[in-house]
Amino acid sequence: MLDDEALARSSVVANCTMNRERRLAGSNGYGRELGLDVADLITDRLSRGAGTFRWLDLCCGTGTALLECARLVADPRLRITGVDLVDFFAGPPHPGVEFVTGPVTSFVPRHPYDLVTCVHGLHYIGDKLDVLTRAASWLTEDGLLAANLDLAAVVTEQGRAWGRRLAGALRSAGLHHDSRRRRISRVGHLDVRLPFRYLGADDRAGPNYTGQPAVNSHYSEAHHPRPGHP
Ligand SMILES: C[S@@+](CC[C@H](N)C(=O)[O-])C[C@H]1O[C@@H](n2cnc3c(N)ncnc32)[C@H](O)[C@@H]1O
Repeated sequence: MLDDEALARSSVVANCTMNRERRLAGSNGYGRELGLDVADLITDRLSRGAGTFRWLDLCCGTGTALLECARLVADPRLRITGVDLVDFFAGPPHPGVEFVTGPVTSFVPRHPYDLVTCVHGLHYIGDKLDVLTRAASWLTEDGLLAANLDLAAVVTEQGRAWGRRLAGALRSAGLHHDSRRRRISRVGHLDVRLPFRYLGADDRAGPNYTGQPAVNSHYSEAHHPRPGHP
């Protein structure tokens, strides 16, 4: 099993044939992949007089969708942050969009976010559940988290999918997983620990439902004692 450093060097994660240039809308765009019209959501919130709207996109690729959104919404109250391992961001730069190069696993947020997305990025992350729960903890009170998540890639030490056990744990934790569309979402700030302990990643899992080779993440069960219940 690989640790994060080895995973970042893996050809599966560095795969140059994966789609890093999704647009905001259209057949393969963020809207379609997340089931969410991002620009509409932001425009609606800003029109209701909200202050700054902050969007964080994890594993943003070239950030093409982020730059498009900033230009489309054209409101200085919109602040967008894109994070990716690879420093290969599109242009031209926009004053409302910042790009951060580095692993999402070590990203430290400076604010709560109104929207956190991860479009086909979790497939390449080792500790997917930690990234998910941390992302949910970065939401504002009514912020939205939306990401693509294939539960088949979250497996036991022996490589069997945690399946229903995981789906149940996500649900109890307050995260909504749409198994048909392989999407996970959450509305509102959430501080939660899932009852799984990360063991490591496997980059030889083969292609996932997107057709691209992806990373399986191995977990054992962990029991977090409730207060007063050792
Ligand atoms: C399939 S691409 C999707 C990019 C973008 N969301 C899009 O849809 O156009 C997955 C992206 O995840 C990035 N990535 C993989 N592992 C990462 C990590 N640990 N931290 C940050 N980015 C990562 C890759 O560099 C790649 O740009």
